[in-house]
Amino acid sequence: MKKFDSYTDDLLRRPEIQRLARRRDHHFRQNRLEHSLATARVAFWMARFLRADARICARAALLHDWFFEDRAEHHNRFGANVRHSIIAAANAEGLGEVGAVVEAIRTHMWIYVRGKPRTREAWIVWMADNITWLTDGFKSFGKYLRRKARLFIYGQSWREVTHAS
Ligand SMILES: [Fe+2]
Ligand SMILES: [Fe+2]
Repeated sequence: MKKFDSYTDDLLRRPEIQRLARRRDHHFRQNRLEHSLATARVAFWMARFLRADARICARAALLHDWFFEDRAEHHNRFGANVRHSIIAAANAEGLGEVGAVVEAIRTHMWIYVRGKPRTREAWIVWMADNITWLTDGFKSFGKYLRRKARLFIYGQSWREVTHAS
């Protein structure tokens, strides 16, 4: 088993983590599990490059957006859910994750909320999330454009005509 997989496999097998795939509105049109896994991969490689603890980084990044609450009172004026880092940190703690993982999750929304990352691993998770956030944005925009182009060319009835889902 590859190193990354050995660090994350037990988490990915959990139904409560797999449930993240049902949220498809993360960063506009991204699936939240896909975002979390991409963040974990980026954090893992950054940790290896920067000689940080790759296991801590991969696990914290995979769990950093483990939340389902999306209430309006959790949103700041930019539309970012500012409570979710606390919720995800509590969820990870409940699972028995070590303090370094919980701490990196708790500080990943720094700038929007108080509490700078304080460890190398927490900074890596913060950076990996921001890199992935940007690529999610491009991907979502691409999806949006493809859908618009399809509707423009085929019109609203293209689904019925092609029986596409
Ligand atoms: Fe987040
Ligand atoms: Fe994130």
